[in-house]
Amino acid sequence: MIPKFCETLAESGKPSPISFIFVAEMKKEMEKPNRIIIAIDGHSGCGKSTVAKELAKRLGYIYIDTGAMYRTVTLFALRNGLAADKKVDEPGLIARMGEVNIEFRFNPKTLQNETYLNGENVEEEIRQLPVANHVSPVATIKEVRAAMVKLQQKMGENKGIVMDGRDIGTVVFPNAELKIFMTASPEVRAQRRYDELTEKGQTVDFNEILQNVMERDRIDSSRAASPLKQADDALLLDNSHISREEQFRWVLEKAEKRIGK
Ligand code: DC
Repeated sequence: MIPKFCETLAESGKPSPISFIFVAEMKKEMEKPNRIIIAIDGHSGCGKSTVAKELAKRLGYIYIDTGAMYRTVTLFALRNGLAADKKVDEPGLIARMGEVNIEFRFNPKTLQNETYLNGENVEEEIRQLPVANHVSPVATIKEVRAAMVKLQQKMGENKGIVMDGRDIGTVVFPNAELKIFMTASPEVRAQRRYDELTEKGQTVDFNEILQNVMERDRIDSSRAASPLKQADDALLLDNSHISREEQFRWVLEKAEKRIGK
């Protein structure tokens, strides 16, 4: 059975032959036994989403980017005058959380899920610096976290999911069958981000990016609500000095072992 939110993913946008194929493929996959939950946590900018996306694609699982959810709440706060100068009006945002509707919709052209805020595609905007500069304080708010965790648990209720974030293996799915904790040095992560943005034609300052990476690490690891930490039963993957291919082989091998292939 296809979970409700997948139907929304597939049915959103204009129906196309590709989205029907996607639904049919997903349905086949969902009927396979031994579907598991794969939780990928770790520091900002160490490539969690790349690994998670590739893994989900290979296994025929659903990929959920939970960072995108916190980014979307942050965008809502910025647009409504509830965040500015790296400060957030916490009571104001908590009071208006009911107005935040987050969805992932499947884009048949890119074959990727994209993030929507109240029906508007915000996938690009949530990746920009204003959101990056305000997302950590938003993610420290316990009421915001409770709402996101609830939504994430619903998305994973049928298993067959790869979810990446900071608290997936510790809070969202403490019983996930496979937990991976990813990291890389701050300099390596800042360099990768710098290369990615300059390739897109943006003019950015390396030091500003490095500061942003280190500041996010500090806030993510020291906040009171669900701080970033490696779950006791998570496997550690430091990818500072390994290639994307090596990393993917490693992750796939662990996943297949847990699935029992
Ligand atoms: O993965 P990302 O960089 O897109 O995450 C954006 C921010 O959201 C980051 O500061 C950490 C926070 N986050 C979180 O607190 N819990 C999650 N499960 C995912 C992200």
